[in-house]
Amino acid sequence: MPLEIIRTSSIIRETSKKYHAEGKRIGFIPTMGALHEGHMSLVQRARQENNVVVVSIFVNPKQFATGEDFDNYPKDYGKDTTMLLKAGVDVLFMPNASDIYPNGFCTTVNVMGITDRLCGKFRPTHFSGVTTVVTKLLNIVNPTRAYFGQKDYQQCAVISRLVCDLNMDVQIVPCPTIREKDGLAMSSRNIYLNPEERADAPSIYKSMKHVEEALKNSKLPLRQASRKLNELLLSISTVTEVQYASVYDPESLVEITDVLPHGNGRGPVLIAVAVKMGATRLIDNLLIQL
Ligand code: PAF
Repeated sequence: MPLEIIRTSSIIRETSKKYHAEGKRIGFIPTMGALHEGHMSLVQRARQENNVVVVSIFVNPKQFATGEDFDNYPKDYGKDTTMLLKAGVDVLFMPNASDIYPNGFCTTVNVMGITDRLCGKFRPTHFSGVTTVVTKLLNIVNPTRAYFGQKDYQQCAVISRLVCDLNMDVQIVPCPTIREKDGLAMSSRNIYLNPEERADAPSIYKSMKHVEEALKNSKLPLRQASRKLNELLLSISTVTEVQYASVYDPESLVEITDVLPHGNGRGPVLIAVAVKMGATRLIDNLLIQL
């Protein structure tokens, strides 16, 4: 089946209704374009689990603050479309900003608490932009399942909370981070890195792995994990700022400095970091079992 490109929400709504009436399950991957293998892994998973796969490309202005990279966000719709076609995606939804945010639009969807932590501290308006657009996209497309990459761990957690709190009838499927061969987590923003920064960038993953090993082998007490991680990240010559780097409770995203939240001294914890390499902000995380 050829890739159907739909540009208006009223039409994709009708298309989705038609698929549901035929008893088909719809897998949905919302994106901002500049697609890479990470996105394509979500498409593959959706392909396996559903009858119809819908991808959206919409660079959502509401999740960028003034001074962030909205105007320069990488765009290559030709390449994106070719990738989606090859992957057997059924529908590409590419709305205009005026369709998503028409004149008079004045609603914001906010998830409280977990959005204040980690990235929320440094991008205070980001998650309300994400939750507002994701609510709209889920309402418009009405998928059976929606797929999100765990590279954006906090985004996955916030969206899962949103869908649960608002009784939205969709299953959120978090999917593993896809990495380059050298360990760098795939991201549309990696394109901003200059050659020197790109060569250094895998050290972010290496730093997290180092701390994971040290914690697992009891060579590093939990209360020193953040200091060690910061030290390792700051020793990367192109890292200009470490915004956060520590061990967190994977559900509440509260920093763990001493006792594990699980009571039994075991269980998964999240190592998460955000660093700046020049003007580029990179995030990464590892969910580990202690
Ligand atoms: O992860 C992204 O690309 C975006 O935050 C999303 C989920 C498509 C919302 O704009």
